[in-house]
Amino acid sequence: VSLPCFVANWKMNKTIEETLSYLSLCKKRFSHLPHQDVEVILAPPYTALFSVGKRIKELSLPIGLSAQNLFFKTEGAYTGEISPRMLCEAGCQYVIIGHSERRMQFGETDAIVVEKVQVALDAGLIPILCVGESAKERAEGKTLAVVKRQVKEAFCMDKHRLFDLSRCLVSYEPIWAIGTGRTPMPFEVERVHQEIVQIFHEEGNLHAASRPRILYGGSVNEANVAAFMEEPHVSGMLVGGASLSAETFMNIVQLGM
Ligand code: 13P
Repeated sequence: VSLPCFVANWKMNKTIEETLSYLSLCKKRFSHLPHQDVEVILAPPYTALFSVGKRIKELSLPIGLSAQNLFFKTEGAYTGEISPRMLCEAGCQYVIIGHSERRMQFGETDAIVVEKVQVALDAGLIPILCVGESAKERAEGKTLAVVKRQVKEAFCMDKHRLFDLSRCLVSYEPIWAIGTGRTPMPFEVERVHQEIVQIFHEEGNLHAASRPRILYGGSVNEANVAAFMEEPHVSGMLVGGASLSAETFMNIVQLGM
C-alpha cells in the first residue's frame, strides 16, 4: 500500500539558516503525528540540500529529500549545472523534473525532460515528473491531450524505452493554478489523474498493484487539501507557496493524510 505523499517545493526560497529552524518545527510536529502513515519530502534549493539532509538525519526525521532540478550528464564541462551523482551525494532520494517554471522560463522541452528522467533513474533517484496544461489549453479543452503527451514523452513510451514507472511520481500541476490561488475542482483533478493511470496501463508497463503515485500541485492550502485528498486517484500534494511556512506545511500534511 502506498502512503500519501506531501512534497514541499520551496523553489528559489530559503537560506541554509532559514531551513534549519524550519526543521526544528517539523520535528516538534512529527512527534504528534502517526508518521509511519505518511511520506513527507522537502525540496530545498541546491545550496541548502546537504545541510537539510544532514539535519534530517541528526533529528531522525522521517522526511525525504528532493532536488528541484538536475542536469542530464554525469560530469563534464557544463558550467553551472548539477549532476545526478552530486544530488545523491548531497543526500537526495528524489528529484523534481519538468516543473512548468523550468519548461517556461528555462526552455526545458519534453526531449530534455526525458533525458533527465533517464539519468535520475539510472542514478537511483526517484523522479517527480510535473505535467499540466496552460490556461489557454484548458480553455480549448486540451487538458487531457496535453497531459497525455507530456507523460508519454517524459517516459518515452512511444519509443519503447520504458522505465520502471512504479518507481516514479507524477504531479499534475495546471500552470494556471500555480501561485494564483485558483484551482481546478477536485473532480477535475481526479479525471486527469485517472487519465494518467490509464496511460500507464495502456503501455502495459504497470501491474495493477504497482500504480505510480500521482500528486496534485497548484495553490494547495490548508482549506483545500482535504477535498483533493478525498479523490481516489490523488495520492498526495506538491505544495509551493504554502510550504514556505513549516507550520502551514505541517498543517497541510495533517489535514490531508
Ligand atoms: P503553489 O503552491 O505556490 O501554487 O506552487 C505549486 C508548485 O508549483 C509546486 O511545485
